[in-house]
Amino acid sequence: MSLLSKIEESFKSRFSAEPTFFSAPGRINLIGEHTDYNDGLVLPAAIDRYIFAAVSIRHDREIHLFSEDYQELFQSSVDDIQRSGKLWPDYILGVVVEMQKAGKALNGFNMVFGGNIPLGAGLSSSAALESVTAFALNHLYSLEFRSLELAKIGQAAENNFVGVNCGLMDQFASVFGRKDHLIRLDCKSLEFEFIPFHSPDYQIVLFDTQVKHSLASSAYNERRRECERGVALIQAHHPEVTSLRDVSLEMLNTYVRDADPLAYRRSEFVVREIQRLQDACEDLLAGNFASFGRHMYETHEGLKNDYEVSCPELDFLVAKARTYPEIIGSRMMGGGFGGCTINLIRRDEVERIAAEMLLAYKVQLDLELAVYFVSIVDGAKAIVK
Ligand code: GLA
Repeated sequence: MSLLSKIEESFKSRFSAEPTFFSAPGRINLIGEHTDYNDGLVLPAAIDRYIFAAVSIRHDREIHLFSEDYQELFQSSVDDIQRSGKLWPDYILGVVVEMQKAGKALNGFNMVFGGNIPLGAGLSSSAALESVTAFALNHLYSLEFRSLELAKIGQAAENNFVGVNCGLMDQFASVFGRKDHLIRLDCKSLEFEFIPFHSPDYQIVLFDTQVKHSLASSAYNERRRECERGVALIQAHHPEVTSLRDVSLEMLNTYVRDADPLAYRRSEFVVREIQRLQDACEDLLAGNFASFGRHMYETHEGLKNDYEVSCPELDFLVAKARTYPEIIGSRMMGGGFGGCTINLIRRDEVERIAAEMLLAYKVQLDLELAVYFVSIVDGAKAIVK
């Protein structure tokens, strides 16, 4: 039975209402890591791994939620939303709170959801859950939020209610995704363009380390603060500078290198990464995948040595990828300390290489690798059944 039919069945067994169906995808990011919260550029895309939800509005004030994946029910009221203390309801409740803050009045709703985005793999299953909730409530209650506002509501839910200080990239990709296109998003101006990305020669493959080191969220917030320290040192001399987006390598050399060597290393990575993304986009437009892939490898080196958000499992996979001429680009993806590497691999060799990577990961690290072949798809939508 398809996942959607399972969710429909589950919904109908619990509620007497007629549901509407929605989906929101997870995301990848080709290049531009840890740049979103520095007002830089990112290059994400939505992928064919989704959260599906069946939702109906209620005429009372109650919220009834059921997670298929956790087989768990949660109830609340729109008049008294508290943190749940559980793994999943806060992503949904946080969205409701942010909609209320924006002055929208909603009644209750029923929602059953489930998905096939691997959890904890850095593919933004939480952003997809926020997006599907925001999209569904906007649709069913005719709230008239525009897409950008929906993405921002998801991010605000994560920042304010869940307590993760993430940038806008994940929610933006989940809402705005377009089939066979990357999104080049300027996180300062919020202008964006779609760049076609469909190569007959190369396949996007994710190698999932299946590890998540406990450092992940504390180190993420720490990196943000280190970048802010770099900005503050420059601001003292250049008040017009508000983020690393406005900073040059010269400024870093002059004002940060000696004063705060650690903030210098973090900031230098970000300034270079923003430039690297721009160069990589030119490669894409020129059809130069080889050069694009080289930039991906460079990003990994920076994330490993200067930004220091990689881990031995990710480094192993990238080092192994380098031994294959058929893997033209490979790097860790997302926040770091676990999750996946993203790889561009010659299509005719993907099966063989994936099998060899799997074996190497098992033999050398005694760990199981998960492999995902992904395609680029459209963002959040209502599903006509
Ligand atoms: C996580 C965050 C994003 C972004 C990446 C790093 O995925 O949610 O906002 O900062 O890490 O690029």
